Amino acid sequence: MPAGKDRPYRLVLLGAPGVGKGTQAELLCQGLGTCQLSTGDVFRAAKCLEASELSPALKQALEFMRRGELVPDTTVLSMVRERVHCLRCPGGFLLDGFPRTVPQAEALDQLLVQEKLRLDAVLSYELPIDQIVSRLSGRRTCEKCKAVYHVTTRPSKQEGVCDHCGGRLLQREDDRPESVRVRMQAYAHSTAPLIDYYQRKNLLLAIPAEGAPEEIFQRTRAALNGQP
Ligand code: AP5
Repeated sequence: MPAGKDRPYRLVLLGAPGVGKGTQAELLCQGLGTCQLSTGDVFRAAKCLEASELSPALKQALEFMRRGELVPDTTVLSMVRERVHCLRCPGGFLLDGFPRTVPQAEALDQLLVQEKLRLDAVLSYELPIDQIVSRLSGRRTCEKCKAVYHVTTRPSKQEGVCDHCGGRLLQREDDRPESVRVRMQAYAHSTAPLIDYYQRKNLLLAIPAEGAPEEIFQRTRAALNGQP
């Protein structure tokens, strides 16, 4: 990673469910001017479609998601290929929640070769499990604009009401304890091996995810600029 690189940045965000990837993605997009692609957000947006508009693969994907399981690689990859223009964004890109398995990472490598692009870094956010569980259990999301809050660390001004659009704040379906358990297992089994995968490619930057979002963002910037 070149020290002091201005932009565009081409980055992958890695980390357990609830570690704060989406929150950092928002700050990184504002700070670095990158374009974000969150596979989780794309699947959640599909929930708003009429049943008749959903392909069988997408219907099945929403079921996997509800249970906390990973969506099959073939479905994820066809969805990413439909959005390959995001990789060409002149401001760079930020992949949040993709890749999540080694086959997905290998497919991304191929896409990048095809597009003549290279990753700058993979940001791996790390946090002890008890803090992750508390971030997940307190998360609330606006049903309309999808803004993310936390009941104690990022509360809305009026309880249960979105500051931006007045929408209702709800708990995500997959933040229920039984789905969280499955998501953590899926992370340990399928996604954690990516840490080794990217370490071998010399792309991994490990970022401690303790502290306030702004502090973690500053830590990320420093890591991107090659500072200790
Ligand atoms: P996805 O949407 O990617 O979810 P995830 O990885 O489980 O991550 P989360 O969105 O739960 O958490 P986050 O790390 O973004 O944390 P956040 O910033 O919200 O995927 C969901 C599902 O989609 C998957 O389970 C799977 O089924 C499917 N899927 C998606 N992509 C897939 C793929 N590539 N392959 C297969 N399946 C796929 O923060 C959490 C909470 O903490 C918030 O309340 C926030 O306000 C709070 N918080 C954040 N930072 C801090 C801080 N520094 N201090 C205190 N609180 C904080």
